[in-house]
Amino acid sequence: LKRRALLVGGAAVLAGGGAALGAGLAARDDPVAAAPASFGAETVPFHGDHQPGIETHPVQAHAAFVALDLRPGSGTADVRRLLRLLTDDAERLMAGRVPLGAADPELPARPARLTVTVGFGPGLFDAIGRPDQCPPIIRQLPEFRTDRLDPRWCGGDLLLQVCSDDAVPLSYALRRLVRDARSVTTVRWTQRGFNPARGAEPEGTTPRNLMGQRDGSANPVPGTPEFEQAVWVREGPDWLVGGSMLVLRRIRMELETWDDFGRAGKEMVVARTLDTGAPVTGGLETDDVDPRMVDGRGIPIAAARSHVLQATARTEGEKMFRRGYSFDDGPTTDGLPDAGLLFAAYQADIATAFVPVQTRLAESDLLNEWITHIGSATFAVPRGARPGEFIGQGLLG
Ligand code: HEM
Repeated sequence: LKRRALLVGGAAVLAGGGAALGAGLAARDDPVAAAPASFGAETVPFHGDHQPGIETHPVQAHAAFVALDLRPGSGTADVRRLLRLLTDDAERLMAGRVPLGAADPELPARPARLTVTVGFGPGLFDAIGRPDQCPPIIRQLPEFRTDRLDPRWCGGDLLLQVCSDDAVPLSYALRRLVRDARSVTTVRWTQRGFNPARGAEPEGTTPRNLMGQRDGSANPVPGTPEFEQAVWVREGPDWLVGGSMLVLRRIRMELETWDDFGRAGKEMVVARTLDTGAPVTGGLETDDVDPRMVDGRGIPIAAARSHVLQATARTEGEKMFRRGYSFDDGPTTDGLPDAGLLFAAYQADIATAFVPVQTRLAESDLLNEWITHIGSATFAVPRGARPGEFIGQGLLG
């Protein structure tokens, strides 16, 4: 009785936060379902116009990005079978159920808002004999002046982005998805990232990155017309309309020199303060940086080459939604940090958004002193699957 009361109480709190609870899961009469409710019981719906894991808000605490390559000789039938299987796995895992062929319910039972998002790289379109369907910008990003790309973090035929507030169900989901993909694919790279733990700060607080900045303050807000406009593809083939394009950049941070740099300088580099993320020109975190504001001597308060002033969208087409994760694979054997940002940005068109913004940043962003882009991959992210469909069905038929 006591447990049930806790469950109901938890459900009320969680529902108040706008989260979808796995009601079916909670109602099941087994020991797992009888455990008290918590963030772990929350689920995100799999079906919809858009794939999950893009507008899922707040961003989950953990992510794994895995790029798969199709084995040589794979064709349309193999890719279709693979996508059917991955869709079925994703649907079950996100609902807190075991995938087909697995027995023990404990590991997936508390998915903690697990999402699985699938993206297509150029090689997939070639393998199915539809190279014309690959948006040209997905095939080839321009090189940027400051790029120092290591092939080990680049490219991929198929992306799995798996996110959850709990690293344990995430790990399980990933191993089952990759296991089911193994007969048709090999793993090209895996990149794991994290954000502050759910509950560490009040819900809705902008996450901090490893430089200590609030990162995402000026993002379009999921559910708003600005977000819809920035993120979802509106024109193009049916399988992509309602989908998106993802740029994933692995960006190393020089955290030792950053840590030793003065606080005022750090805030000048970005034009936002470290504590609240508010503009250095004043106001609240939700305000824009004012490039015209000057100090007593007539000198602009926000540096023209600050990250924010360079990155701000100058056209509607430049807008994007940043859904980044920190990575930390250090320390190295020398005791140095090996950390940075998995910059993941969703947008309706990489050619009009990421490309012009990154071109500007590569030319003149004060932040460049402390960051280096070392990995890059782009994926077309199909629209969401409706019940009975598999992801990418419109492309594979
Ligand atoms: C804003 C950090 C890379 C695009 C910001 C802000 C921070 C930040 C602290 C201000 C708060 C906010 O609005 O989120 C970083 C770090 C990076 C990085 C540490 C690399 C390690 C990039 C890249 C792009 C980008 C590669 C795109 C090419 C933006 C945009 C804004 C922004 C569009 C919002 C500007 C506005 O309209 O106010 N970034 N960023 N950032 N960043 Fe970055």
